[in-house]
Amino acid sequence: MLISFEGIDGSGKSTQARRLYQYLKDMGYRVSLYRDPGSTELAESIRELLLRYHMDPTTELLLFEAARSSLVWEKVFPDLKEGKIVLLDRFIDSTTAYQGYGREINLGTVRILNHIATRGRKPDITFLFNLPLELAHRRIESRTRFEEGNYLRKVRDGYILIAHEERERIVMLDASRGEEEIFEDILRTLRERLSLPL
Ligand code: TMP
Repeated sequence: MLISFEGIDGSGKSTQARRLYQYLKDMGYRVSLYRDPGSTELAESIRELLLRYHMDPTTELLLFEAARSSLVWEKVFPDLKEGKIVLLDRFIDSTTAYQGYGREINLGTVRILNHIATRGRKPDITFLFNLPLELAHRRIESRTRFEEGNYLRKVRDGYILIAHEERERIVMLDASRGEEEIFEDILRTLRERLSLPL
């Protein structure tokens, strides 16, 4: 089972992903948590390049997809084969939102590259942490170059459009609520949608 966590920086997705990871582990599930881009030696190196250099949107897109391909091939597929639950802190929808809607790269191109990098494997469920921009800005201490003003607005709006297009996969969460309430929501959703006995 593949579960991804999506949203703009400061939306609380990484906190909830770590929390679910711990919870599932305590319940006796075999589970792994990875961050995209990252989590393999190669993908972590690509992540450093992405954060260090300014580059044109297409180069950026290809590097994100290369990092994802490495993560999927080296970690995600072997884990799924072993029957593990795999949690992903960001995945394909980040690229659609940030490079597609944010940098305005053709959405069809992004879709094809997402498909190539993942060999077509989509998450079984995606949690989208939806947060008003003003709240996100307040929560973020050090912003990366991916999280600047107007750009971030396009990314957030993009995420909402993606969620409307894939309602059966993407569950939008109101991320302005407290940590506890959001976590309960996630558990309830997993019980209902995936019949996980949690
Ligand atoms: P992270 O700090 O949440 O792991 O992500 C690093 C930055 O990379 C974050 O600002 C979002 C951005 N990003 C993209 O622009 N495209 C992508 O495909 C992914 C996965 C992340």
